[in-house]
Amino acid sequence: MGSAVKPALDVPRIDKGLDDIYVKETSICYVDGQRGRLLYRGFDIQDLAQHSTFEETIFILIHGRLPTRQEFAHARSILAEARAITPDVVRLLRCMPSDAPPIDVLRTAVSYISNFDSERDDPTRAANMRKAQRLIAKVPTIIAAHHRIRNGKRIVPPDPSLGGAEDFLRMVTGRKPDPLSARIMDVALILHADHSMNASAFAAIVSASTLADLYSAIVAAIATLKGPLHGGANEAALRTMLAIAKPEAAEQYVLDTLRNRGRIFGFGHRVYRTYDPRALILREYARQLSELRGQEDLFRISEIMQETTVRELKAKQIYPNVDFYSGLVYHLLGLPMDLFTPVFAVSRVSGWTAHVIEYWDDNRLVRPLDYYVGPTDAAYVPLEERP
Ligand code: SDX
Repeated sequence: MGSAVKPALDVPRIDKGLDDIYVKETSICYVDGQRGRLLYRGFDIQDLAQHSTFEETIFILIHGRLPTRQEFAHARSILAEARAITPDVVRLLRCMPSDAPPIDVLRTAVSYISNFDSERDDPTRAANMRKAQRLIAKVPTIIAAHHRIRNGKRIVPPDPSLGGAEDFLRMVTGRKPDPLSARIMDVALILHADHSMNASAFAAIVSASTLADLYSAIVAAIATLKGPLHGGANEAALRTMLAIAKPEAAEQYVLDTLRNRGRIFGFGHRVYRTYDPRALILREYARQLSELRGQEDLFRISEIMQETTVRELKAKQIYPNVDFYSGLVYHLLGLPMDLFTPVFAVSRVSGWTAHVIEYWDDNRLVRPLDYYVGPTDAAYVPLEERP
């Protein structure tokens, strides 16, 4: 083999995970990792979680301001009317393998529905806003319809008179949720709507930067969200809690895992160096729901896990992130584990589309470098001369 490239004296700085690299300016979302604050267009998620709805949060992320009452009513009805999926999509869902992971079904279905959108390749901002609304509206219906089909149940069509969160739970479970469950789902969707340049948002930006269409960018984002280091952590975190099974086993599980250099899913974050503010909000809902559902032990397990992990990893500033509690909340709301990451996508489609539309306002092809250290003069030997 030829000689490898001798590293030049000026070896470039390689940021493998792009830690601390800024790829664009944004006014969509601010994550204050030191103080544990999260703002959407300047509005603190504490205020939005207390006073807003997912539909209003979508408007804020995409339009950059609070809607007037008339605008809110109009935006809400546009989303409600766009929830329905066509018989073609239902046919696609019916022919998916029965054990297909719902997040993969969603990735497939979003790619599929792009073929029926006459505006798919229309690059104008107005068309992209309309496509964003259609995507945000249809994703929950796709997930719910597939869940009913794979369980051999009749599909529950959307009810546009209900709010999105409430209707999603109704389409999944077949019955209208109680007001508390509907509100908790609404807040969970608010909390997951955006989080600046996370891996899936960046995947959407990379795809969009080539001027591919919005659907293609969202397919890239869904595919990226799936991983257990990102959106898949909520399912992994709950699996851990269920595997621990008893509160008295929780501390030892964490200690053993850390001693074996393992990861506690639902903890740590590339940006937060303190508690993820979303986790703190969801933790209270998890407490409330666990008492209402008679599953206090499960919440006690989560409490011991977080006390132990925070104590043991204090030096590394590892704290619970949104995924540690979102899985527990969704479980207590009656959702199956493999729907947790799709629910993350139900919400995050709003953030992904907001970032793509913002990036297209000042587009630049994303094309980084990699530093070559391989051979530069390998001699080619014709096949017949090789052993
Ligand atoms: C989300 O980016 C976003 O904003 C994402 C998100 C969003 O809303 O979009 O917030 C949603 O994805 C939240 C993160 C969900 N993922 C998990 O919970 C998976 C478990 N967490 C980790 O794998 C980790 O914390 C990451 C991937 C989230 C972040 O890791 P980094 O920034 O790459 O840090 P690292 O892996 O280099 O870890 C630094 C140190 C290491 O120890 P040393 O090698 O230095 O001794 O911290 C340790 C790690 O071992 N560490 C953990 C840990 N997370 C980090 N140790 C045990 N358990 C963990 N969870």
